[in-house]
Amino acid sequence: MEDRVLVFDTTLRDGEQSPGVRLSLDEKLEIAHQLEAIGVDIIEAGFPISSPGDFESVNCLAREIRGVTICGLTRARDRDIEVAAEALQPAERRRIHTGLGVSQNHLEYKLKMTPDQALETGVAAVRKARQYTDDVEYFMEDSGRADLDYVYRVVEAVIRAGATTINVPDTTGYTYPNEYYHLIHTIREHVPNSDQAVFSCHCHNDLGMATANTLAGVMAGARQVEVTVNGIGERAGNTALEEVVMALHIREDKFGVKSRIDTTRLLETSRLVSRLTGMLVQRNKAVVGANAYAHSSGIHQDGVLKERSTYEIIDPRLVGAERSEIVLTARSGRHGLKFRLRELGFEFTDD
Ligand code: KIV
Ligand code: ZN
Repeated sequence: MEDRVLVFDTTLRDGEQSPGVRLSLDEKLEIAHQLEAIGVDIIEAGFPISSPGDFESVNCLAREIRGVTICGLTRARDRDIEVAAEALQPAERRRIHTGLGVSQNHLEYKLKMTPDQALETGVAAVRKARQYTDDVEYFMEDSGRADLDYVYRVVEAVIRAGATTINVPDTTGYTYPNEYYHLIHTIREHVPNSDQAVFSCHCHNDLGMATANTLAGVMAGARQVEVTVNGIGERAGNTALEEVVMALHIREDKFGVKSRIDTTRLLETSRLVSRLTGMLVQRNKAVVGANAYAHSSGIHQDGVLKERSTYEIIDPRLVGAERSEIVLTARSGRHGLKFRLRELGFEFTDD
């Protein structure tokens, strides 16, 4: 069977946590339909206990969206899990995503628990969630700064309690690719029952490494990536869906795994999310930025006009863009000028 990476989209949950973003129910539904259409495997629809609006949107997506797993986030608390289960009830396929922090920092300052107390709380949450669905994901918040021996204990215990996906979030965007690779790799090596769960990468972009870290996690054997369209999310954002999908596609030689995403709809998806969230996409953004397939210097224009692959590793049509662009600037040369003039309908002699 083909080795596949599951795409878990959290635009509507972690993405909506971007400062300044607020989506209406209709807007969430429109985005969810688009995510379903492009081939996302799991949609994290929201955090049901956090507000009546979140409950309603998770519940509405659970009713309306078919062919995709709908997921709801919870803290490791009974009431959160009961509310999430109720919101997810109408879904064709439902997942409860529960968990809590594993770093010393989170245990001490945020949770005010000992490591053993947190571990027991997590195990109880997984058992509770399993009463409602056999698809339970466990997140170990701030894994990127956690003690590895403790992480091994948590993973083993929550898998034994019934977790089927283990999320290893670099919540603070602290790690760099070698470290994140090591984190996923050693968990899989050291935890005796690790073969009974799918490992998931959830990276934040505080140091600009979310995509690189996610791909490093895939190299280490993770088979789920948690992403948002355009990389929107808390602070500097989450891993960008379009970047991971295109990296897996363009460098299949390296990764040897595929996603189910229809790449030709990435640009339209990016534009939809940008329009509805009001979050502009920077022009030089990888894959979907306005300049991603534009060439302005004479040397590059000459090369691309002779053979596109000289300066482009992605054929723009692969992401749904019409074509590459030749933009005239002070650095353009004859070849670019001639091409552009011809495009505009002017015919000139060389002289
Ligand atoms: O970044 C994070 O740790 C999260 C979890 C709640 C999954 O978003
Ligand atoms: Zn997150």
